[in-house]
Amino acid sequence: MKENEYNDLKKWYEETADERCEEMGEFFGRRIGNYEEHMSAWAKHYKRVAELVPEGAKTLLDLGCGTGLELDRIFERLPDISVVGIDLSESMTAELLKKHGDKNVEIILDDYFSHDLGENRFDVAVSVESLHHFTQEKKVGLFAKVCRALKPGGVYIECDYIAGSEKVEKLAFSECRRRRLRDGVPEGEYVHFDTPLTLEHELDAMMRGGFERAELIEDIDGTPIIMARKRVKA
Ligand SMILES: C[S@@+](CC[C@H](N)C(=O)[O-])C[C@H]1O[C@@H](n2cnc3c(N)ncnc32)[C@H](O)[C@@H]1O
Repeated sequence: MKENEYNDLKKWYEETADERCEEMGEFFGRRIGNYEEHMSAWAKHYKRVAELVPEGAKTLLDLGCGTGLELDRIFERLPDISVVGIDLSESMTAELLKKHGDKNVEIILDDYFSHDLGENRFDVAVSVESLHHFTQEKKVGLFAKVCRALKPGGVYIECDYIAGSEKVEKLAFSECRRRRLRDGVPEGEYVHFDTPLTLEHELDAMMRGGFERAELIEDIDGTPIIMARKRVKA
């Protein structure tokens, strides 16, 4: 199974070797037309993420909220929850606002790595299919900010693409590096190229970010849902 993932990925990199890197926001802007249809394959994941948001949660941070597919399900359960969604893409979030402009939702068009997320503000944070493009070190810094932004005892729920082995993780980062260098992408610019971490490395990044606990809740068709909890007492 894992050997197949590695071989399939290697083959796909060979077939697409000449494709140019696309800047992250521009990538999603170009695909907005059929984005939600494409993501319908993850319907079960959005439903499960929404079920895991604790009853009684009043404030929610969504990292990489996009067009709001996870929020579609979350608002069904908790229509009055107050949401801050952060995303790089204006066109994606414009779709979100078309659907949920009547809800208590604030959109921040910014990079979640550099934006100040504040302290002790949110009962829950979520991120769905957004973080599989970044290194473990960058994620440790982000998880530290998310942990700080949560109230004591608050939870972070993540559903994202994960590498099945370290061999796959290394292959993806190495191909991403090769393409970035070839295309002269400046250091720090985000490109849409999947570089998922293994589950072990993802959980480790959350723990290093300061969460008290981080665990796999469920694996749905190979995509894990992870929950991390902030300590109740400092
Ligand atoms: C595949 S979409 C997922 C959107 C939504 N969570 C969903 O599941 O439909 C990834 C989103 O993450 C956003 N994103 C990627 N990197 C980001 C960053 N560094 N800061 C803010 N948003 C980012 C993209 O603009 C895009 O809207």
